[in-house]
Amino acid sequence: MLTIITGAQFGDEGKGKIVDHLAENYDIVARFQGGDNAGHTVVVGDEVYKVHQIPSGILVGTNALIGPGVVLNPFSLTEEMKMLQDRGIVITNENFGIDTKASLIMPYHISMDILSEASRKNRVGTTQKGIAYAYADRVLRNEIRLGDLFDEDRFYQKLNAILPAKKEVIAKLGGNPYDLFPDEEAKRLLKIGKELQHYAVDVSYVINSSLRAGKKVLAEGAQGALLDVVHGTQKYVTSSSTIAGSACTGLGIGPSQVTKTIGLVKAYVTRVGNGPFPTELTDADGEHMVTVGNEFGTTTGRKRRCGWLDMPLLKKSANLNGYTELVLTKLDVLSGLETIKICAAYDLDGERIDYPPSLSEDLERCVPVYTENDGWDETLGEIRNFFDLPPNARKFVEYIEKKNGIPFSYISVGPKREQIIKMDVRRRDVRYNPIMRPLF
Ligand code: IMP
Repeated sequence: MLTIITGAQFGDEGKGKIVDHLAENYDIVARFQGGDNAGHTVVVGDEVYKVHQIPSGILVGTNALIGPGVVLNPFSLTEEMKMLQDRGIVITNENFGIDTKASLIMPYHISMDILSEASRKNRVGTTQKGIAYAYADRVLRNEIRLGDLFDEDRFYQKLNAILPAKKEVIAKLGGNPYDLFPDEEAKRLLKIGKELQHYAVDVSYVINSSLRAGKKVLAEGAQGALLDVVHGTQKYVTSSSTIAGSACTGLGIGPSQVTKTIGLVKAYVTRVGNGPFPTELTDADGEHMVTVGNEFGTTTGRKRRCGWLDMPLLKKSANLNGYTELVLTKLDVLSGLETIKICAAYDLDGERIDYPPSLSEDLERCVPVYTENDGWDETLGEIRNFFDLPPNARKFVEYIEKKNGIPFSYISVGPKREQIIKMDVRRRDVRYNPIMRPLF
């Protein structure tokens, strides 16, 4: 049984907590795209864990895999492994594997990301982790893979062929090419390679064999659907495919294996970095979301832009991912707001539309058309049953479900593992059809 979980918005939907919650019921949790640009915060008891590359399922003892679709930063990965091990999390080659073919994020990729962002007028606002440059090298067949570190000669051959061109680019971008990749750094990388060799596996083989043996696999996406390199709000996107289909290519499994696809929806929208954001708020309601929701990036510490829930964008995400169920996160953050708004449609150049235009340049001009409801004052952190929610919070949830035609299976009402409402989907009056259906 294979479940795919992805963020339905611009990332940071609270994936860490939900994956952590679901992982107990799975044998394997696997990351399929992205790199250490991702950041998941998971609260276990009084402990707060921030993970960037290792699937957070490992915190509850589920086996964790990093697929060949990711770009791997070997330096930060080993630091992350050590941080978790120091805090008592067991990581061995019995419960953790990394695909031998994973492309490496090299120090020159990071320099190029930082320098090119600094030189641009219209910055993407990247996490400056070298993600685009590492993916570009993969597409150019110019990458160093994890497995290349296991053979010193092959590694140096590849590195020496790559470095001169990188030095040229870095010099052009205004950087100092001489300290680009000193020999001691190459030696350190080879040493890290020796450590990681211990964990190297063929993820596609492991997952397919596990599925055949009746095991349950959870494929964990990073970032969010609207940051997808093809389908997102280009050019303000990340460099990988972040939608559910990417789990198949990024892990090496066939689409016929997919049992369900879960979408994570935050009760409001956040975005880090630049790019269109029709419902963005710059008022006291937006500040409420930032402060109560603690909307600061796990990876970069940047303050996230916040705005009302956007149904046209959610409708697009549902199409891109084929969600069979949704999880609503951070509903508790909306407590205390006098009025709650949801963007039901856009006005684009005088025309009412309920689906986002293809180009982000056009999305920039979309003016939200809101539906409004009274808010609620009660705190939600202790509530475990949907029917105990304040009536206006229930209305909010039901509105989204009905408009989407996709049920919520969980509602998260706080950062702690136990702060979750399990929805009984069969009791809920939701017209449910996982195959593309109109939302309105
Ligand atoms: P990059 O992935 O670092 O190249 O950044 C490209 C865009 O994706 C920027 O707007 C980043 O802020 C955004 N981004 C990348 N990773 C994440 C994430 O994990 N959460 C939210 N936004 C992200």
